[in-house]
Amino acid sequence: MVLDTTALNARRHCPDDEQAIWLFGYGSLIWKAGFPYLARRPAHIRGWTRRFWQGSHDHRGTPEAPGRVATLVAEADAVCHGMAYRIAPETLAPLDVREKNGYLREVTTLFFEDGATARGLTYIATEDNAAFLGGAAPAAMARQIAEAHGPSGPNRDYLLNLEAALAELGVREAHVSDLARRVRAHAPATDDAIPCKMSDMS
Ligand code: BEZ
Repeated sequence: MVLDTTALNARRHCPDDEQAIWLFGYGSLIWKAGFPYLARRPAHIRGWTRRFWQGSHDHRGTPEAPGRVATLVAEADAVCHGMAYRIAPETLAPLDVREKNGYLREVTTLFFEDGATARGLTYIATEDNAAFLGGAAPAAMARQIAEAHGPSGPNRDYLLNLEAALAELGVREAHVSDLARRVRAHAPATDDAIPCKMSDMS
């Protein structure tokens, strides 16, 4: 299901026009911002855990064969590590468009490595959005990620880039690393038929 949350986000948690804000990234934003920013700092948020539970019909998959991308799921005592960007408020509008398939702006507290905290925004796709897939058996989720491909590229690249970016931050997460291990073990899809002789087919 392809949604469009752009208009909803334009009315949600709108920052003051003049003030730079913090944006917390926990998915592709960790390794690729794709927008101008004033500062970039590792950070974490609390009470949320990263899960590959959101369907991607527009970036890492298609409506017919959606991929799986990260969203945040509420979990007491959980910590989600990621990257914080200090951005001008007008930077949000193009992000609302880019992440229009179910993600909504939410206010959260960011915790920085030096102990400082700040209020900021993050995008979360909750279970009530039509593109939400939820959890599945790890093997099934890994197969879906290994096979999906969309306008932004292979779904496996999203997962493996995230795993690498988290490693650079010194973070290893069982959910991500287990999926990545399974996806690496998955044979690449190929259209090439294995040559065989008619005599072999009986
Ligand atoms: C992220 O990379 O953190 C992200 C950005 C937009 C929507 C969802 C996640």
